[in-house]
Amino acid sequence: MVQKDDNLKDIISHSKEYGFVFPSSEIYDGLAATYDYGQLGVELKNNIKEYWWKAMVHMHENIVGVDSAIFMHPTTWKASGHVDAFNDPLIDNKDSKKRYRADVLLEEFVEKIRQKIQKEVEKGKKRFGDDFDEEQFLATNPNVLRNQKKIEETEERMRAALESSDLEAIYNLIVDLEIVCPVSGSKNWTEVRQFNLMFSTELGSVAGDAATIYLRPETAQGIFVNFLNVQKTGRMKIPFGIAQIGKAFRNEIVARQFIFRMREFEQMEMQFFVRPGDEMKWYDYWKEQRINWHKALGLGEDRYRFHDHMKLAHYANAACDIEYDFPMGFKELEGIHSRTDFDLKQHEEHSGKKLQYFDPELNESYVPYVVETSIGLDRMFLAVLSSSYKMEDLGDGKQRALLSIPPALAPYKVAIMPLTKKDGLPEKAREIMDAMKLDLNCIYDEKGAAGRRYRIQDAMGTPYCVMVDHQTLEDNTVTIRDRDTMEQERVNVDDLHQIIGDKVAMHKLLTS
Ligand code: GAP
Repeated sequence: MVQKDDNLKDIISHSKEYGFVFPSSEIYDGLAATYDYGQLGVELKNNIKEYWWKAMVHMHENIVGVDSAIFMHPTTWKASGHVDAFNDPLIDNKDSKKRYRADVLLEEFVEKIRQKIQKEVEKGKKRFGDDFDEEQFLATNPNVLRNQKKIEETEERMRAALESSDLEAIYNLIVDLEIVCPVSGSKNWTEVRQFNLMFSTELGSVAGDAATIYLRPETAQGIFVNFLNVQKTGRMKIPFGIAQIGKAFRNEIVARQFIFRMREFEQMEMQFFVRPGDEMKWYDYWKEQRINWHKALGLGEDRYRFHDHMKLAHYANAACDIEYDFPMGFKELEGIHSRTDFDLKQHEEHSGKKLQYFDPELNESYVPYVVETSIGLDRMFLAVLSSSYKMEDLGDGKQRALLSIPPALAPYKVAIMPLTKKDGLPEKAREIMDAMKLDLNCIYDEKGAAGRRYRIQDAMGTPYCVMVDHQTLEDNTVTIRDRDTMEQERVNVDDLHQIIGDKVAMHKLLTS
């Protein structure tokens, strides 16, 4: 069986080899945790954005989009709480000199115990076969019960320490649990300190005249400060939402695991403004909508789970993550947060401007409550790549690298290939491509043996290959080869556009 870490390494090298993701400024040996998207990567990224935008904005009459500036007035971040509270607790190991997020060390400790319980369950299943009663096993097995107790006790102490930002208590917990540095194996830790994650820079060119401004750590604040602009000019009625896709920046203490945790990344966020008191109804609604959006892609239903937040962010009264089974295990892919009226009220206070909505049905004005959905585009990209990438055995010791990306998201929808470079086949192939490229992203390939060309397209994730051969010139038919099944069907050129267009359409995802 392929180990998960090896799988991540394979995905990283495949991404580079085929132009999905490159280390940033690689000719200068790269910049830690910063990546560039290549020729196929940018197409996949754009398609994910389109899927999200269509599902959130175009499919909802009461949601509209914005594209706000990355730089915002510095008071924005004072009001939002980021200047004072957007911190991570960090701890250094004195022997390895490695720096860690203290809360992540603790979470990983708990996850390891969970995996121990899962192993016990697997052992039980093997031993008792069909007679195995998982529920009873979990409720009675002494090893499971001991580990479960340890999880509960640890989580309880974690919650108390994190919620009160008690750095000493976090340190004591790490020491009591005898957590070791994964690199040096030692327990020689520094104290826990707070570290603000915002990048700052200066606006203005005159010395002494400059103001400190921040690179936004989330796109959401660009939505909040435009709440009234959009509500009034768009004549929006509550409940309504504002969506945005854009870059965000965080000076992460530990930025690693490829594009999972970067210092510059992209978010797709939506703030849904509701009547105070209605927020839990809409929180449940968006949890369901978002998990359905993910599942429609067919990456595997059992690869998702909800995880309720133990430590609520300074603005939330309920929050959960949609976690995805990445090559590194289950990790946060998307957050759904009930943010109360915190942000709008804070902006009212700091700006001195009213940010209220007059509700004609209630005949009163109020500051709306907000339910937010926030997904990392780069993490979504990694989820798609990691579930799609496989090395498939073809028999006779042969293998193929396959990216079974959902067709609607695939960088190229179709590869057009003449069987040979002569006899008028390239001209016919080009004619077919010219007719299709207006709607579908096509790639032309006439180089090398057909089998080899198919393999390259499989590795790029192109769902369909169209082969133009000598029969095409006689009866105007071509073969369509399916990436996943490798089966071929012969169809008339006049129907080709429609057939492939249907197979790769986003409609199916949006209506499923
Ligand atoms: N506006 C709410 C907010 O920003 P968050 O949970 O901090 O919430 C939302 O971030 C999403 O952004 C996460 O679920 C994750 O997918 C993505 N994200 C956060 N930090 C990231 C990073 N350093 N690199 C890549 N994606 C990140």
